[in-house]
Amino acid sequence: MSIVVRGPRAREDGRGCTVESESSPGEAVTAAEDLIATADAHCAPTYHPLPVVIASGEGAWLTDVAGRRYLDLLAGYSALNFGHGNPRLVEAARRQLDRVTLTSRAFHHDRFAAFCAELAELCGMEMVLPANTGVEAVEGAVKTARKWGYRVKGVPGEMAKIVVAGGNFHGRTTTVISFSTDPEARADFGPYTPGFEIVPYGDLTAMRAALTENTVAVLLEPIQGESGVIVPPAGYLAGVRELTRERNVLFIADEIQSGLGRTGRTFACEHEGVVPDMYVLGKALGGGIVPVSAVVSSAEVLGVFRPGEHGSTFGGNPLACAVALEVIAMLRTGEYQERAARLGERLHRLLGELRGAGRVTAVRGRGLWAGVDVPPAAGTGREVSEKLLDRGVLVKDTHGSTVRIGPPLVIGEEELEWGVEQLREVLAGD
Ligand SMILES: Cc1ncc(COP(=O)(O)O)c(C=O)c1O
Repeated sequence: MSIVVRGPRAREDGRGCTVESESSPGEAVTAAEDLIATADAHCAPTYHPLPVVIASGEGAWLTDVAGRRYLDLLAGYSALNFGHGNPRLVEAARRQLDRVTLTSRAFHHDRFAAFCAELAELCGMEMVLPANTGVEAVEGAVKTARKWGYRVKGVPGEMAKIVVAGGNFHGRTTTVISFSTDPEARADFGPYTPGFEIVPYGDLTAMRAALTENTVAVLLEPIQGESGVIVPPAGYLAGVRELTRERNVLFIADEIQSGLGRTGRTFACEHEGVVPDMYVLGKALGGGIVPVSAVVSSAEVLGVFRPGEHGSTFGGNPLACAVALEVIAMLRTGEYQERAARLGERLHRLLGELRGAGRVTAVRGRGLWAGVDVPPAAGTGREVSEKLLDRGVLVKDTHGSTVRIGPPLVIGEEELEWGVEQLREVLAGD
């Protein structure tokens, strides 16, 4: 029997948590609790998810196993820039599923050339090193920079240094956590990979002092996502660009979270007119459907590799390429970047009002992306996220008191306003 339950979370305007369920509300709650308990029993406890079990999604909305709808203001940390179940992307994936999905790189396949050429073109670069997850591409960038340092720059063997910023987040492998400043990410996972130097984010003087003859690269997020959407001081990225050019050091921009439309431009570096030597891309490149990541750079830099020196069985597979090609085509229209810029302005105006009213202590960000610091009186970031969950809005906290907002770029203006209104009411204790 199909029933529609208008539970305590249902809203008169039809948004939020209208419940449409095949089962009774009691059964659905038990089903969710059982699923969470089973996951907790059998999955290594590396995450602390909000207590919601999603069953389906469309655009900016997700539906849980009880049929409750939630506005997704997280978008898989920018992996879902184009929304859940984007029809163009799903269709591209479906068409490819019927043809061929994996060849390994032992053979060529007919989507690969276009993927590499078109991604390179989107970035204004020449070559692509394909991978799957973000951290894998960061690892690829580290290896590329080291090899370039030894073979092109002439750094003595084993001496290459890469300068990174405090508060960085580039992923979770042992090499990448070796240069994390987050104790939770590092503790108990040593010994660590040497060859990295950490300087404060946004500090050009420290950056200048850290560059030596053996520095092969500077690796930075143009906006630090995991750290709480930290935008560096104006002129920082341009200053790093100038310094790295002067010292023959590669500038690697990790645009895995900040790139592909999120900030209102294809790349966050563009806000300072900066073109790095290497982009590291991931997340939205796979359209929220498959993991697709890549290092994109010049032929001089990526041309340092020889067959056998790096690789990945799934990197650049036909399904990944088909989806990424559609992502690239969508980005080429400029529509998503324009949307992120326009709606981002609205988002930041609304959040600015909350700050003006003393409801939040700080708001940072660019485009459709914001880090919002909530005051202790409102509870922790986790508590605020849980209250928003109750109202049918999904966000995620970071670093105790920050709530991150980064909806799919396809979100409607009214939906966005409704989501921020829920935050306002939660912070007001309504
Ligand atoms: C800037 C940045 N780099 C790298 C990563 C790692 O990506 P993945 O989780 O796909 O390995 C992330 C993930 O959040 C990120 O935000």
